[in-house]
Amino acid sequence: MKSLTFANGDTMPAIGLGTWKSAPGEVFDAVLHAIKSGYRHIDCAAIYMNEKEVGKALRKAMDDGLVKREDLWVTSKLWNNAHKRDDIKPALKKTLSDLQLDYLDLYLVHWPVAMKPDVVFPDGPDDFLSLSEVPLSETWSGLEDMHAEGLARHIGVSNFNIEKLDEVMRNARVRPAMNQVEMHPYLAQQKLVDYCHDHDIHLTAYSPLGSGDRASRMKRENEPVLFDDPTIKDIARQHDCTPAQVLISWAVHRGTAVIPKSTNPGRIEQNLASAEVNLTEGDMEAIKHIGKDFRYIDGSLWAMEGSPYELSDLWTE
Ligand code: A2P
Repeated sequence: MKSLTFANGDTMPAIGLGTWKSAPGEVFDAVLHAIKSGYRHIDCAAIYMNEKEVGKALRKAMDDGLVKREDLWVTSKLWNNAHKRDDIKPALKKTLSDLQLDYLDLYLVHWPVAMKPDVVFPDGPDDFLSLSEVPLSETWSGLEDMHAEGLARHIGVSNFNIEKLDEVMRNARVRPAMNQVEMHPYLAQQKLVDYCHDHDIHLTAYSPLGSGDRASRMKRENEPVLFDDPTIKDIARQHDCTPAQVLISWAVHRGTAVIPKSTNPGRIEQNLASAEVNLTEGDMEAIKHIGKDFRYIDGSLWAMEGSPYELSDLWTE
């Protein structure tokens, strides 16, 4: 299994288990099965509303002697309603308590979007706080404190474009070690990848399979389906593997981490086995030329009418 190496020598397995959309009642079995199958990297977030159940699975895996804490890589994310300095530590403490852990391997700012503390998802424009009210530098400084206290071994961001990464790095005591973004052959974002690699920021590809299990209100009509892409299907046939494995292997070959979500035991195993799929330069080149450009998670909820956020500020590529 390939891994990503951080400045202090810590390593994160390139393929992790995604837990967004993994329903309570299913995610315990999924995480436990993943660990039994060899996963050592689990991607979580407070807003996935399932960290308690993930925590029970982590606890059981450790109690049963399947794995030691130091062999696991656990990531979580700070939700938009806790960006203010005083709200960050309580949010991280809650995540740690739910996950039954003393520290996270990686803690990310989930979105460069701030909301009022009592808001989970915004109903209207008044639910937001603008970035002049809660600057990203304030939130980042709070994460730096969590890093200094040892509650998060590494800190980073998610859904940040080049401008926002620049902004955070300008005054950072600790630079972001990770940017987790939507990434797949329909949204390769080569400029962002090059920028991050030039600045020693790792990338994690989320929604690598297109997140077809999103709620229908998050979907647009006639979305392209990665699994049905003729180039992806053709490469899968040549390697005697599945389209999902081609998509996961593509991310690994680009030097990023990737967090396919599944709660199905067979697919959990299949996704980890993507590590054995060796795409050729020719395959990578063919995928580069697919020529479709599509963002599944477009952040439009943050850009509702009257909100201080605009999609053109979020995405530049
Ligand atoms: P399931 O959980 O039933 O396996 P993403 O990681 O991009 O968010 O995509 C997750 C979606 O892809 C879920 O619907 C998940 O369903 C499905 N999925 C995960 N792994 C595979 C696979 N190997 N083949 C087909 N579908 C998969």
